[in-house]
Amino acid sequence: LSNGLAVTPPMGWNDWNAFGCNVSEALVEQTAQYMVTSGMKAAGYEYVNIDDCWMTSSRDASGNLVADPAKFPDGMKAVADYVHSLGLKFGLYEEAGTATCAGFPGSLGHETQDANLFASWGVDYLKYDNCNGGSEPTQQRYDAMRDALAATGRPILFALCEWGADSVWTWGAQTGNMWRTTSDISPNFGSMLNNFHSNVALAQYAGPGGWNDPDMLEVGNGMSATEDQSEFSLWAQMAAPLVSGTDLRNASAATMAIYLNKDVIAVDQDPLGKQGTEVSSSGGLDVLAKPLSNGDVSVVLFNENTTAATISTTAAAVGLPSASSYTLNDLWAHTSTTSSSSTFSASVPAHGVVMYRVTAKGATSASPSPSVSASAS
Ligand code: DGJ
Repeated sequence: LSNGLAVTPPMGWNDWNAFGCNVSEALVEQTAQYMVTSGMKAAGYEYVNIDDCWMTSSRDASGNLVADPAKFPDGMKAVADYVHSLGLKFGLYEEAGTATCAGFPGSLGHETQDANLFASWGVDYLKYDNCNGGSEPTQQRYDAMRDALAATGRPILFALCEWGADSVWTWGAQTGNMWRTTSDISPNFGSMLNNFHSNVALAQYAGPGGWNDPDMLEVGNGMSATEDQSEFSLWAQMAAPLVSGTDLRNASAATMAIYLNKDVIAVDQDPLGKQGTEVSSSGGLDVLAKPLSNGDVSVVLFNENTTAATISTTAAAVGLPSASSYTLNDLWAHTSTTSSSSTFSASVPAHGVVMYRVTAKGATSASPSPSVSASAS
């Protein structure tokens, strides 16, 4: 969506995956505080987002939505003000039908009034769900809110929570800044893998201003540290929004080290804005390549299987030129190796990744386009 927002994939936090309907002012404010003190804000995490269940079950006499006073005793504007006082941005959730998934009032037919209310509270990001849309065409319902948000004059990032129905990727970029390509993620490897497979095929639709969204990060919610690292790497490689869905206040050091990996974040946020693609995939061993703005290529070797395996690819396969040497920066081991070999290979743990940022030095040919014929071995 050309509203000047989401030039790189949005980064932030959302309460839903860890808390469901147990959202509150204290939770949101403590999390926002922690995002500053933990270094997440400095690393680029910006949006503090409230999901479903923030409102009362009916509108007030003037037809306005009401923040649940038991959960948000100071009202939503006070929460937004607090988040803004920390230099962060504030996100809220609504629904493009008559009721949210949890049964609270939806915005269908109230788009202008709700958008104006959100703008008056200082909302910077709207996640717009699609549980109870009835028979009205989906895109039309989403476009109505897009136009209502634009009419407020406040820049509000528009996140389509459309679960990949209605081929949202084919129209998402005209309507929103990101669009869900899958159903809800859960904190297990199989769910993460499904969302990865659905999302990775949609690279052609993503770019600055509009991103494919394979759903929030489950890092810290129960997968193994290796699997958490895989999710974070794959999401970054796919230029996906990096929205943490965990209880950051109680996150382990291992979890925080993943969220704070600046080299992986830099791949996600690379200004070229290209979603990485699968250049080979065979027997559960995948090679992904993402071209970067300085000519480097990010390469992810991903092992979907339950035993360790060696995965190999070549400079040509990932779109690098022939060169006299290649420097491989391992973005998790934080080591760097330079060699003249144009074959890149690593032993990759079960369910794990090895992620390299590769620089070609002394190019002797132009960069080929990433090939789809490379083989994993
Ligand atoms: C469905 C969405 O996909 C979830 O991310 C969450 O927003 C829930 N609805 C809330 O009801």
